[in-house]
Amino acid sequence: MRLHDVERDKPVPLEVDDLSREYAQKLDREDPLGHLKGEFFIPSKADLKSKTLPGTTLNSQPPNTTNTDPCIYLCGNSLGLQPRLTSQLIQTHLSTWATKGVHGHFKPLDDSPLPTWVQADEVAAEQMAGIVGALPSEVAVMGTLTGNLHLLMSSFYRPQVGEGGRWRVIMEGKAFPSDHFAVESQIRSHNLDPSNALILINPPSPDNPLLSTSQILATITKHAPQTSLLLLPGIQYYTGQLFDMHTITAHAHSHGILVGWDLAHAVGNVELNLHDWDVDFAVWCSYKYLNAGPGAIAGLFVNERHGRVEEGRGVEGYRHRLGGWWGGDKGVRFRMENEFHPIPGALGYQLSNPSILSLTSLLSSLSLFSRATPVLLRKKSTSLTSYLHHLLTTFFPPPSSTLTIITPSNPAERGAQLSIRLKEGLLEGVMKGLEEEGVVVDERKPDVVRVAPTALYNSFGDVWGFVEVLRGVVGRVAGEVEGWRGREAVVVCGRVGREGKESRI
Ligand SMILES: Cc1ncc(COP(=O)(O)O)c(C=O)c1O
Repeated sequence: MRLHDVERDKPVPLEVDDLSREYAQKLDREDPLGHLKGEFFIPSKADLKSKTLPGTTLNSQPPNTTNTDPCIYLCGNSLGLQPRLTSQLIQTHLSTWATKGVHGHFKPLDDSPLPTWVQADEVAAEQMAGIVGALPSEVAVMGTLTGNLHLLMSSFYRPQVGEGGRWRVIMEGKAFPSDHFAVESQIRSHNLDPSNALILINPPSPDNPLLSTSQILATITKHAPQTSLLLLPGIQYYTGQLFDMHTITAHAHSHGILVGWDLAHAVGNVELNLHDWDVDFAVWCSYKYLNAGPGAIAGLFVNERHGRVEEGRGVEGYRHRLGGWWGGDKGVRFRMENEFHPIPGALGYQLSNPSILSLTSLLSSLSLFSRATPVLLRKKSTSLTSYLHHLLTTFFPPPSSTLTIITPSNPAERGAQLSIRLKEGLLEGVMKGLEEEGVVVDERKPDVVRVAPTALYNSFGDVWGFVEVLRGVVGRVAGEVEGWRGREAVVVCGRVGREGKESRI
């Protein structure tokens, strides 16, 4: 077991025997990104239990939350925490609107850290490009994940049925349902039948929910002649598995298949090099590891070769897409003419003027990312999750009858999240127990708990504290369930005895 020294890029041997809280605190003291935790509101245990908003006023002053008695928040895979800067920047935006009205669109302000509203989308796209490894022109900050997936499929999924045609889409069988619904409905919108046009890659067995790269490549090869598009997640939402995006994209391209990635669980979590990997398109949300708030404005990537616009060729000069005025050339946008001249690159896929409220929230979070590099963040993340893995497998040595980690054990095949499958019957009690102790993680029924230490605001102490609480809760709940099972067994056996019927326990 080795941790990463994020500063010197050297593995640090973990003193395997040292399972103490003091050791976690030592790791925190040595963490060069540790100070970033203070940039976030960490809900206190009391705040989580309260049914009111402590410390807030109706005038919406920033929450009076201090990081005293904080909860252990390991849920960035679902919703990232609020940066302290967000409410300040949003207040600045509201003041701009209140005092400048429509002039906020165009009039730069000497004392505002925010761009004008008409520039805000480009500024956000440029900052986001560094996080996803793209050219600034390949990124647009817009819409929502599922909406953007539809938009990009309308451009990249152009099925041709018949001799030599390609009409199939390959995706995973256990994709996030919204992706599945989007793909099925796209297929139907071309009057095709998903039972023929949709190829699903399913995990080998219920006990092994992971998809190997070789299984994915083999499926691509098998269906290549009829396949138009491959859509996969960078990180699988349920298992936390990180896919080899580079290898898979190259393999699909070698068979003439376009490739799109859903990066909901990958963006802000692992290093991405979308441009160098030659990905065709990608979509993501910004409310998980990007901390922009629930339902905040999302993002998309369009490879530069698909975003080209050749002047003078009308609709022949650019890739087909569903159009809207905000995708139109800024130079002529406000002439209100009916001929569409898309902005070259991903910005040419925009439809509407974006929510500046939402963009402001995202810009706040992106400013924190600019205080670390993706490489540093990934190294800290790898260390945190490896530490979590180490503690869990030490206290629940595999094969454990109580819990199994279904996420790959190789750090290169996962991001921040570990998905823990609990023994049947334990989930509800364990989640309740964790909540009572001020631990925030999330569940996927019937038996999985997802735990995601996040490099920007989690500490080794959080990880240690979580495992400590989990041990107590599991011990208690597993004992209760065993006791309950024992009583049930006695009752059923008694009935079998009395009524003489066969029964299974
Ligand atoms: C992998 C994945 N895809 C798609 C979605 C849907 O996102 P949205 O509701 O922002 O469209 C989610 C939401 O959590 C997700 O995790």
